[in-house]
Amino acid sequence: MRTSAVLLAAGQGTRMKSALPKVLHPLLGKPMIFYELELLRAVTGTTPVAVIGHGAAAIRQAVGDAADFVLQEPQLGTGHAVQQAQVLLAGRSDLVLVTYADMPLVRVETLQQLLQAQKQHRGPFTMMTIFADDPRGFGRIIRSAEGQVQAIIEEAQASEAQKQIRELNASCYCFNAEWLWKSLTRIPISPKGEYYLTDLVGIAVEDGLAVQALLLDDPCEAIGINTRVHLAEAEALLRQRINHDWMLAGVSLIDPQTTYIEPDVKIGQDTVIWPNTYLQGNTTVGEACVLGPNTILRDTRVGSSSKIIDSTLEKSLVEDNVEIGPYCHLRPGVHLAQGVHIGNFGELKNSYLGPGTKMGHFSYIGDATIGEHVNIGAGTITCNFDGEKKNHTEIKSGAFIGSDTMLVAPVEVGEGAHTGAGAVVTKNVPPDTLVVGVPARAIRKLKKSD
Ligand code: UD1
Ligand code: CA
Repeated sequence: MRTSAVLLAAGQGTRMKSALPKVLHPLLGKPMIFYELELLRAVTGTTPVAVIGHGAAAIRQAVGDAADFVLQEPQLGTGHAVQQAQVLLAGRSDLVLVTYADMPLVRVETLQQLLQAQKQHRGPFTMMTIFADDPRGFGRIIRSAEGQVQAIIEEAQASEAQKQIRELNASCYCFNAEWLWKSLTRIPISPKGEYYLTDLVGIAVEDGLAVQALLLDDPCEAIGINTRVHLAEAEALLRQRINHDWMLAGVSLIDPQTTYIEPDVKIGQDTVIWPNTYLQGNTTVGEACVLGPNTILRDTRVGSSSKIIDSTLEKSLVEDNVEIGPYCHLRPGVHLAQGVHIGNFGELKNSYLGPGTKMGHFSYIGDATIGEHVNIGAGTITCNFDGEKKNHTEIKSGAFIGSDTMLVAPVEVGEGAHTGAGAVVTKNVPPDTLVVGVPARAIRKLKKSD
């Protein structure tokens, strides 16, 4: 059976009180809308149709080709929203999965279960419900004495007795496509002037058709986000879920409460993560690393058995057996080869450090290519900016850079060369040569073994 997917994301999200469209608010670093889009794609194998309206341009730009778009203008309710997808989908599929973009915690297994249930159901649709003590303004499920679903009543229309009902609409539906497209036009207008998708239950029942309801075991999945309080609750739950899964996969979290792992991060077995550590964006960490405390890795790749303490790394590549920190900042474009050691207070940017190179204490290295087993003395600085442009520094393998050396780029230090403490290097240093002073001058040729 062909299945298509519709995601509703056109509402204003008034209760967020924000200039940013609700569905673009990030949940663990990723705009909320992506969670449902990825789910729907995984379950249907097709590109979902997102119904957008409020903030449409910003949503289109953020989502790109992860969805096909239809515009709902004006936004006249969830039933009216689904109707807008008809032009793209009518006749294209047998089943239509519909979910809301403000429900990002739904699990893939849940939607798969919903789809399977409708495939075996003769009726017009299957929907998910939950039991929850706090109804959070959700639609209430009305059942007959025999337990058949009769209607969904929205909170605004519910009587006092109906408000006591604790079975709620989790707002994931799988429809028989043909029935959906012909029934949407029958939805009556609500007192608020909207067309509620939830009224399709009453319409089916009127026609003598049975609506199937599946109960979600874990009400946390149905946490809908209408306010920033809900957003924080959802973020905490998602974080717990991700941390739990990583621990079961063999990663140690010393304090899961203060560990922030974003959804697209990958971590190898036996890595240990200390408190207050953030693994963000497209970050990958190998096996048996030690990260943190107080460490941020953003869009960064780390090999295995590396150790990073109290440091921030952005868009960088760190190979195996590297030590970084405490108190280092790797800005974008840094590549540290195997066995590199970066001690206290190092800043690096757009640079390569070859295998075994050491930079122990408070240095700045920017726009540099550094060979193997180079020793970078305390306080070394690449003076890479001449006021107009950034210039390159090259340090060849085996060089020894004395403490407090200023390397005025563009400049090259040859293989095995040494600079004296406090040298200001303005000219290229030949291999195996010692330079000292301001500006640095060669004073002697070194033996290769020096
Ligand atoms: C909706 C359900 C409610 C359910 C709850 C679960 C309806 C009428 N009510 O209520 O039964 O328990 O979700 O979260 O469906 N949207 C549009 N166009 C519109 C209006 C809304 O695309 O014209 C989108 C919104 O962007 C949002 C979703 O539909 O993603 C739900 O809208 P919202 O106003 O949040 O509905 P709820 O009041 O939460
Ligand atoms: Ca909602």
